[in-house]
Amino acid sequence: MTKPSQSTGPNSLTAQVEAERHVLGPDFVWGVSTSAYQIEGAAAVDGRGPSVWDHYCRGPGRIADGDSGDVACDHYHRYAEDIALMRELNIRAYRFSVAWPRVLPAGRGAVNEAGLSFYDRLIDGLLAAGIEPWLCLYHWDLPQALQDQGGWINREIAGWFADYAALIGRRFGDRVPHIATFNEPSVFTLFGYGFAWHPPGLTDAAALHQAIHHVNLAHGAGVDALRAHAPRASIGAIHNVQPARPLTPTAGDEAAAGLLDEYWNKAFPEPQILGHYPPALARLIEPHVQAGDMERICRKVDWLGVNHYSPLYARAAEGAPLGFAWADAPDNVPKTQMGWQVDTNAFRDVLIVLDRRYRLPIYVLENGAGAADKLDPSGNVVDLERVGYLAVYQAALHAAIAAGADVRGYFVWSLLDNFEWGSGYGNRFGLIYVDYPTQRRIPKASAHWYANVIRAIRAPGNLEVDPGSGPSGRPDRET
Ligand code: FCB
Repeated sequence: MTKPSQSTGPNSLTAQVEAERHVLGPDFVWGVSTSAYQIEGAAAVDGRGPSVWDHYCRGPGRIADGDSGDVACDHYHRYAEDIALMRELNIRAYRFSVAWPRVLPAGRGAVNEAGLSFYDRLIDGLLAAGIEPWLCLYHWDLPQALQDQGGWINREIAGWFADYAALIGRRFGDRVPHIATFNEPSVFTLFGYGFAWHPPGLTDAAALHQAIHHVNLAHGAGVDALRAHAPRASIGAIHNVQPARPLTPTAGDEAAAGLLDEYWNKAFPEPQILGHYPPALARLIEPHVQAGDMERICRKVDWLGVNHYSPLYARAAEGAPLGFAWADAPDNVPKTQMGWQVDTNAFRDVLIVLDRRYRLPIYVLENGAGAADKLDPSGNVVDLERVGYLAVYQAALHAAIAAGADVRGYFVWSLLDNFEWGSGYGNRFGLIYVDYPTQRRIPKASAHWYANVIRAIRAPGNLEVDPGSGPSGRPDRET
């Protein structure tokens, strides 16, 4: 009698794909994410006003190699090519952000029709290609004119944001089924007001606490505006959630990690979804809270957007503005080329905990790996490390869903290599390589791999994964 083989051939592959289909369900959304300042370029084209990032990048020593988003991926002019690439890669959904200063150059008042038309063309192009647009109102590029009036520390900004949300809802709400208010509010507030790593470049605890509260008020006012002006859209917000760990098991580092956890993971979803601040922040933010604010902030949303990359570490730092300091992950843990810890159990557990705590459908709207990718002599980018990262994180996603978490979509950060904030263009996250001098787009091995994952899991009746061809029929050695 012959022993049954431990085959990894077509039958076991078919069984695996069938199992994944079963776990994920037929409507699972496979997507990619980007943001306006990181890809659009065209910073001074067609009436776009300056943003805080345009200003911040001009400061010496702030961005690696003195880079900025002035040109970036020139997506403003090349969006049609980028949509065609997504279509070739089987991408089902595309998350992008609107640049507030492109549509309202001074942040409020006069509307820039040319800016709105760009997003009309983008959205219509996506729909024509069968790709679902997901629109985020705010991915960190505040109009500089509003910064000059105090930015997030001016309470009036909630009303300015609501007016902007109403404009976007009226114009695009008929065609965009999912709209988010904010992307990662904890990052731009903490980095901008607590650590001076992002605009406006402050280390001022009081300003940080004001900004947190005003962003929350703006979220609530934005949700109301979208409900009124985009009644068909499904509305949510996007939060980055990552375990905050003490660098060492000492009381000081434990307390530091507890504080970081509140700023990073709780300052926004808790008040927005549950109607209260976490305990330490509640005391610090209290001076800025007025009667009725929690009702203004805690508006019903339809889903929870989650971004996740790796765990974080904190250590005690007496005398630091916030009482704690950031720490690098310990040496003995696995990391991506850019030094972010790889810990898939953390991802699985975050999804399970968020599902139980907030009881909202979850969409993972960012996950991915940064690297200093290079073109090889044959003109390919063989980013096997990224393929490995995405494969193990997707396995953790399946595990979370199998454990009962209601996760309905997964978006890779990012479609294209792009302007990675303080690290400029050296840290590449794209499925598609961008050769910046020529703006040529070259799908990496990870793009072909992702296209195959989507095709295998989605295509009805076709369970064969075709390892031999990439999305455009080219030989695909990498997968
Ligand atoms: C997230 C941001 C995104 C990108 C990735 C790598 O924090 O939302 O813009 O920078 O990290």
